[in-house]
Amino acid sequence: MKYRAMIDSVGHYVPKKIVNNFDLEKKTDTNDEWIKTRTGMFERHYVDDTEAASDLAFKATENAIYSSNTTTKQDIDMIIVATVTSDHPFPATACILQKRLGLKDIPAFDICAGCSGFIYALDIAKQYIENGIAKTILVVGVEILSQLINWADRGTNILFGDGAGAAIITRTPSNCISHIIDSKITADGTDWELLLQVAGGSRIPASPDSIRKNAHTIYMEGNKIFKLAVRAMSGVTAEVLKRNNVSTKDIDWVVPHQANLRIIESVAEKLNIPMSRMIVTIDKFANTSSASVPITISVALKQNMIKRGDMVVLTAFGAGLTFGTVLLRY
Ligand code: UT7
Repeated sequence: MKYRAMIDSVGHYVPKKIVNNFDLEKKTDTNDEWIKTRTGMFERHYVDDTEAASDLAFKATENAIYSSNTTTKQDIDMIIVATVTSDHPFPATACILQKRLGLKDIPAFDICAGCSGFIYALDIAKQYIENGIAKTILVVGVEILSQLINWADRGTNILFGDGAGAAIITRTPSNCISHIIDSKITADGTDWELLLQVAGGSRIPASPDSIRKNAHTIYMEGNKIFKLAVRAMSGVTAEVLKRNNVSTKDIDWVVPHQANLRIIESVAEKLNIPMSRMIVTIDKFANTSSASVPITISVALKQNMIKRGDMVVLTAFGAGLTFGTVLLRY
């Protein structure tokens, strides 16, 4: 292989408004103790009326570019945005972001893979870099899930937050230690009905009736999703490690999707990786879907946890049902 892909830099942005468990106690039939012990969540960020996905994506991108020693905005030759909460059903938020960045004549598209979206986008970026077509790809995971909350359903209304994470993926010589070693993305559509936004698409278009039924909000069968998430993330990660002859002892850090602390603990147990190597930000941001992995990488970099050369696993699971794992040397 002539070229390899590496993560050059990562940045994130979350909106200013913080909503903690005690604030939620005032809005729904819940309590801080239940949320903390059943999910590990304490705070989440919500947008105000003026912010949409592209606004958060733009700020996360600015932070990623600021964190890079080499990449400038003009170097970006492809934009991939992972989101299920785009500014508009169409066009792609990636195109809106492209305009904000002042970039022309490059491909820009969105990926809809639920909470696995960033992993999917990274896998695609890797292929484009390795085959020599692209040199510098902006990959963003962004969600505004606060606008999809069903306040009548305490089983889901405490779980989600807003945010964006952006990564600059660059071409690197084949002898460079920092590179994406391998990735696998996959899906099992059998159980797609366990996690979805029911209305607002072509199956059930928006209507006064769909709004009355709260059908434009998140529907999730949490218990079933929980078990599938553990099995899927640990299974695909074990497969990627095995085919690269990498032992779990060689892994410095795992950045898992932040859906539930108990899911993260179960994945760690199944993979036989100590919790001290699982990076957790769920207490601060709750579940930000496709933004959770890049936000968590960004935070870990700022806290000097992940360093250049570390062996890192990224893994996620989400609506679709989609899942995947990326193995890399940072
Ligand atoms: O990001 C995409 C993937 N998403 C996920 O992976 C999420 C996966 N699922 C989960 O994380 C968990 O299933 C939840 C956090 C959603 C729910 O946790 P659980 O431990 O599975 O709770 P449960 O639904 O089994 O409910 C247990 C009890 C019930 O009460 P009873 O029937 O035992 O009396 C619920 O009514 O907890 C009650 N409950 C709550 N109590 C206080 C459910 N939600 C709440 C709440 N506050 N917010």
